[in-house]
Amino acid sequence: MKIIMLGAPGAGKGTQAKMLAEKFNIPHISTGDIFRANIKEGTELGKKAKEYMDKGLLVPDELVVDLVMDRFKADDCKDGYILDGFPRTIPQAEALDKALAAVGEKMDYAINVDVPDENIVNRMSGRRACVGCGATYHIKYNPTKVEGICDKCGKELILRDDDKPETVLNRLKVYHDQTQPLIDYYGKAGIVRDVDGTVDMNDVFNAILDILSK
Ligand code: AP5
Ligand code: MG
Repeated sequence: MKIIMLGAPGAGKGTQAKMLAEKFNIPHISTGDIFRANIKEGTELGKKAKEYMDKGLLVPDELVVDLVMDRFKADDCKDGYILDGFPRTIPQAEALDKALAAVGEKMDYAINVDVPDENIVNRMSGRRACVGCGATYHIKYNPTKVEGICDKCGKELILRDDDKPETVLNRLKVYHDQTQPLIDYYGKAGIVRDVDGTVDMNDVFNAILDILSK
Protein backbone atom coordinates (compact mmCIF):
# COMPACT_ATOMS: atom_id res chain seq x y z
CA MET A 1 0.00 0.00 0.00
CA LYS A 2 1.35 3.41 -0.99
CA ILE A 3 -0.12 6.41 0.79
CA ILE A 4 0.55 10.14 0.60
CA MET A 5 -0.39 12.27 3.61
CA LEU A 6 -1.57 15.72 2.54
CA GLY A 7 -2.43 18.62 4.81
CA ALA A 8 -1.25 21.93 6.21
CA PRO A 9 1.74 22.16 8.54
CA GLY A 10 0.54 20.87 11.89
CA ALA A 11 -2.54 19.13 10.48
CA GLY A 12 -1.36 15.86 12.03
CA LYS A 13 0.26 14.19 9.00
CA GLY A 14 3.21 12.94 11.03
CA THR A 15 1.03 11.76 13.93
CA GLN A 16 -1.22 9.71 11.63
CA ALA A 17 1.63 8.50 9.40
CA LYS A 18 3.42 7.01 12.42
CA MET A 19 0.26 5.19 13.55
CA LEU A 20 -0.39 3.85 10.03
CA ALA A 21 3.21 2.75 9.58
CA GLU A 22 3.01 0.74 12.80
CA LYS A 23 -0.37 -0.78 11.94
CA PHE A 24 0.59 -1.85 8.39
CA ASN A 25 4.26 -2.47 9.08
CA ILE A 26 5.46 -0.25 6.23
CA PRO A 27 7.94 2.63 6.50
CA HIS A 28 6.97 6.20 7.35
CA ILE A 29 8.99 8.45 5.06
CA SER A 30 9.00 12.06 6.26
CA THR A 31 11.16 14.46 4.26
CA GLY A 32 11.00 16.92 7.16
CA ASP A 33 12.40 14.25 9.53
CA ILE A 34 15.13 13.36 7.00
CA PHE A 35 16.16 17.03 6.78
CA ARG A 36 16.09 17.46 10.56
CA ALA A 37 18.30 14.36 10.98
CA ASN A 38 20.74 15.85 8.45
CA ILE A 39 20.75 19.18 10.29
CA LYS A 40 21.51 17.38 13.55
CA GLU A 41 24.39 15.48 11.94
CA GLY A 42 25.71 18.68 10.32
CA THR A 43 25.74 17.28 6.75
CA GLU A 44 25.98 19.50 3.66
CA LEU A 45 22.35 18.68 2.82
CA GLY A 46 21.34 19.64 6.36
CA LYS A 47 23.15 22.99 6.13
CA LYS A 48 21.44 23.83 2.84
CA ALA A 49 17.99 22.67 4.01
CA LYS A 50 18.21 24.65 7.28
CA GLU A 51 18.49 27.97 5.43
CA TYR A 52 15.06 27.38 3.92
CA MET A 53 13.37 25.58 6.80
CA ASP A 54 14.16 28.26 9.38
CA LYS A 55 12.36 30.80 7.20
CA GLY A 56 9.38 28.51 6.67
CA LEU A 57 10.22 28.16 2.98
CA LEU A 58 10.36 24.96 0.96
CA VAL A 59 13.70 23.31 0.28
CA PRO A 60 14.32 23.42 -3.52
CA ASP A 61 12.79 20.49 -5.45
CA GLU A 62 16.16 19.28 -6.74
CA LEU A 63 17.38 18.65 -3.18
CA VAL A 64 14.25 16.69 -2.28
CA VAL A 65 13.35 14.48 -5.23
CA ASP A 66 16.57 12.43 -5.52
CA LEU A 67 16.60 11.94 -1.78
CA VAL A 68 13.15 10.33 -1.79
CA MET A 69 13.81 8.30 -4.94
CA ASP A 70 16.91 6.88 -3.24
CA ARG A 71 14.91 6.03 -0.13
CA PHE A 72 12.46 3.96 -2.23
CA LYS A 73 15.31 1.63 -3.19
CA ALA A 74 15.62 0.35 0.37
CA ASP A 75 14.35 -3.15 1.02
CA ASP A 76 11.71 -2.07 3.54
CA CYS A 77 9.80 -0.21 0.79
CA LYS A 78 8.90 -3.33 -1.16
CA ASP A 79 5.39 -3.64 0.35
CA GLY A 80 4.66 0.09 0.20
CA TYR A 81 5.22 3.20 2.33
CA ILE A 82 3.61 6.29 3.77
CA LEU A 83 4.85 9.60 2.41
CA ASP A 84 4.62 12.48 4.87
CA GLY A 85 5.59 15.93 3.59
CA PHE A 86 6.39 14.71 0.10
CA PRO A 87 5.38 15.58 -2.57
CA ARG A 88 4.87 19.21 -1.66
CA THR A 89 4.87 20.91 -5.07
CA ILE A 90 3.45 19.97 -8.47
CA PRO A 91 6.95 19.31 -9.91
CA GLN A 92 7.65 16.91 -7.00
CA ALA A 93 4.35 15.10 -7.66
CA GLU A 94 5.17 14.82 -11.36
CA ALA A 95 8.63 13.46 -10.57
CA LEU A 96 7.07 10.90 -8.23
CA ASP A 97 4.45 9.81 -10.80
CA LYS A 98 7.11 9.46 -13.45
CA ALA A 99 9.41 7.37 -11.25
CA LEU A 100 6.55 5.07 -10.24
CA ALA A 101 5.21 4.75 -13.80
CA ALA A 102 8.68 3.68 -14.93
CA VAL A 103 8.36 0.59 -12.71
CA GLY A 104 4.65 0.04 -13.45
CA GLU A 105 3.43 1.35 -10.07
CA LYS A 106 1.26 4.17 -8.76
CA MET A 107 0.16 5.72 -5.47
CA ASP A 108 -3.00 4.21 -3.95
CA TYR A 109 -4.31 7.01 -1.72
CA ALA A 110 -3.68 10.66 -0.93
CA ILE A 111 -5.21 11.27 2.50
CA ASN A 112 -5.98 14.95 3.02
CA VAL A 113 -6.03 15.77 6.73
CA ASP A 114 -8.16 18.88 6.87
CA VAL A 115 -7.55 21.44 9.65
CA PRO A 116 -8.41 25.15 9.31
CA ASP A 117 -5.61 27.71 9.65
CA GLU A 118 -7.14 29.07 12.89
CA ASN A 119 -6.33 25.82 14.72
CA ILE A 120 -2.80 25.46 13.40
CA VAL A 121 -0.79 28.13 15.25
CA ASN A 122 -2.18 26.97 18.58
CA ARG A 123 -1.28 23.36 17.78
CA MET A 124 2.26 24.15 16.71
CA SER A 125 3.17 26.19 19.77
CA GLY A 126 2.20 23.18 21.91
CA ARG A 127 4.04 20.56 19.87
CA ARG A 128 7.16 19.00 21.37
CA ALA A 129 9.52 16.71 19.48
CA CYS A 130 12.00 14.22 20.92
CA VAL A 131 15.68 14.97 20.12
CA GLY A 132 16.42 11.24 20.28
CA CYS A 133 13.76 9.26 18.36
CA GLY A 134 11.72 12.05 16.73
CA ALA A 135 8.44 11.11 18.45
CA THR A 136 6.04 14.05 18.64
CA TYR A 137 3.75 15.09 21.45
CA HIS A 138 1.51 17.99 22.35
CA ILE A 139 1.60 19.62 25.77
CA LYS A 140 -2.23 19.61 25.90
CA TYR A 141 -3.56 17.08 23.37
CA ASN A 142 -0.91 14.36 23.66
CA PRO A 143 1.23 14.96 26.75
CA THR A 144 4.11 12.76 27.92
CA LYS A 145 3.97 10.96 31.26
CA VAL A 146 6.87 13.05 32.61
CA GLU A 147 6.95 16.65 31.40
CA GLY A 148 9.72 17.33 28.86
CA ILE A 149 10.83 13.68 28.62
CA CYS A 150 10.05 11.29 25.75
CA ASP A 151 7.84 8.33 26.77
CA LYS A 152 9.49 6.09 24.19
CA CYS A 153 13.22 6.70 24.65
CA GLY A 154 13.63 8.94 27.71
CA LYS A 155 15.42 11.75 25.84
CA GLU A 156 14.64 15.46 26.05
CA LEU A 157 11.78 17.15 24.17
CA ILE A 158 12.19 20.42 22.26
CA LEU A 159 10.09 23.00 20.40
CA ARG A 160 11.04 22.85 16.73
CA ASP A 161 12.87 25.95 15.42
CA ASP A 162 10.22 26.45 12.74
CA ASP A 163 7.27 26.20 15.17
CA LYS A 164 7.57 29.80 16.34
CA PRO A 165 4.28 31.61 15.51
CA GLU A 166 5.80 34.00 12.91
CA THR A 167 7.43 31.11 11.02
CA VAL A 168 4.24 29.03 11.23
CA LEU A 169 2.28 31.82 9.50
CA ASN A 170 4.84 31.81 6.69
CA ARG A 171 4.66 28.00 6.39
CA LEU A 172 0.87 28.27 6.10
CA LYS A 173 1.19 30.79 3.28
CA VAL A 174 3.69 28.56 1.47
CA TYR A 175 1.33 25.62 2.00
CA HIS A 176 -1.62 27.43 0.39
CA ASP A 177 0.50 28.68 -2.54
CA GLN A 178 2.54 25.59 -3.36
CA THR A 179 1.17 22.45 -1.69
CA GLN A 180 -2.62 22.83 -1.58
CA PRO A 181 -2.81 22.56 -5.43
CA LEU A 182 -1.82 18.90 -4.95
CA ILE A 183 -5.33 18.20 -3.61
CA ASP A 184 -6.65 19.00 -7.10
CA TYR A 185 -3.77 17.18 -8.77
CA TYR A 186 -4.47 13.92 -6.93
CA GLY A 187 -8.22 14.59 -7.08
CA LYS A 188 -7.97 14.34 -10.85
CA ALA A 189 -6.16 11.01 -10.40
CA GLY A 190 -9.13 9.88 -8.25
CA ILE A 191 -7.11 9.03 -5.15
CA VAL A 192 -7.83 11.90 -2.72
CA ARG A 193 -9.78 11.11 0.44
CA ASP A 194 -10.58 13.87 2.95
CA VAL A 195 -10.60 13.38 6.70
CA ASP A 196 -11.54 15.89 9.39
CA GLY A 197 -8.28 16.54 11.25
CA THR A 198 -9.83 18.67 14.02
CA VAL A 199 -11.22 15.74 16.01
CA ASP A 200 -9.31 13.57 18.51
CA MET A 201 -6.24 11.90 16.93
CA ASN A 202 -7.64 8.38 17.50
CA ASP A 203 -10.86 9.35 15.72
CA VAL A 204 -8.81 10.73 12.81
CA PHE A 205 -6.94 7.41 12.71
CA ASN A 206 -10.18 5.39 12.67
CA ALA A 207 -11.56 7.56 9.85
CA ILE A 208 -8.41 6.82 7.81
CA LEU A 209 -8.63 3.08 8.53
CA ASP A 210 -12.22 3.15 7.37
CA ILE A 211 -11.16 4.76 4.07
CA LEU A 212 -8.36 2.23 3.54
CA SER A 213 -10.72 -0.70 4.16
CA LYS A 214 -13.03 0.29 1.29
P1 AP5 B 1 7.67 18.98 7.81
O1 AP5 B 1 8.46 18.39 8.91
O2 AP5 B 1 7.04 18.08 6.82
O3 AP5 B 1 6.60 19.96 8.42
P2 AP5 B 1 5.11 20.35 7.99
O4 AP5 B 1 4.52 19.84 6.76
O5 AP5 B 1 5.10 21.81 8.13
O6 AP5 B 1 4.27 19.58 8.96
P3 AP5 B 1 4.52 19.35 10.44
O7 AP5 B 1 5.47 18.26 10.69
O8 AP5 B 1 4.79 20.68 11.11
O9 AP5 B 1 3.04 18.95 10.89
P4 AP5 B 1 2.31 17.53 10.83
O10 AP5 B 1 1.16 17.64 9.88
O11 AP5 B 1 3.26 16.40 10.67
O12 AP5 B 1 1.67 17.56 12.29
P5 AP5 B 1 1.98 16.68 13.59
O13 AP5 B 1 1.49 15.28 13.39
O14 AP5 B 1 3.37 16.87 14.08
O15 AP5 B 1 8.60 19.99 7.00
C1 AP5 B 1 9.37 20.98 7.67
C2 AP5 B 1 10.11 21.81 6.63
O16 AP5 B 1 10.99 20.96 5.86
C3 AP5 B 1 9.23 22.50 5.58
O17 AP5 B 1 8.74 23.74 6.04
C4 AP5 B 1 10.23 22.62 4.43
O18 AP5 B 1 11.11 23.71 4.61
C5 AP5 B 1 11.04 21.35 4.50
N1 AP5 B 1 10.50 20.26 3.66
C6 AP5 B 1 10.03 19.05 4.09
N2 AP5 B 1 9.61 18.31 3.06
C7 AP5 B 1 9.80 19.06 1.94
C8 AP5 B 1 9.54 18.86 0.55
N3 AP5 B 1 8.98 17.72 0.10
N4 AP5 B 1 9.87 19.85 -0.32
C9 AP5 B 1 10.43 20.99 0.12
N5 AP5 B 1 10.70 21.26 1.40
C10 AP5 B 1 10.39 20.30 2.32
O19 AP5 B 1 0.94 17.39 14.58
C11 AP5 B 1 1.15 18.75 15.02
C12 AP5 B 1 0.83 18.87 16.51
O20 AP5 B 1 -0.55 18.68 16.72
C13 AP5 B 1 1.53 17.82 17.40
O21 AP5 B 1 1.90 18.41 18.61
C14 AP5 B 1 0.46 16.74 17.61
O22 AP5 B 1 0.64 16.05 18.83
C15 AP5 B 1 -0.83 17.56 17.58
N6 AP5 B 1 -1.94 16.85 16.98
C16 AP5 B 1 -1.91 15.98 15.91
N7 AP5 B 1 -3.16 15.53 15.65
C17 AP5 B 1 -3.99 16.14 16.55
C18 AP5 B 1 -5.41 16.09 16.77
N8 AP5 B 1 -6.22 15.34 16.02
N9 AP5 B 1 -5.91 16.87 17.78
C19 AP5 B 1 -5.10 17.64 18.56
N10 AP5 B 1 -3.74 17.71 18.38
C20 AP5 B 1 -3.21 16.98 17.40
MG1 MG C 1 5.37 16.28 10.50
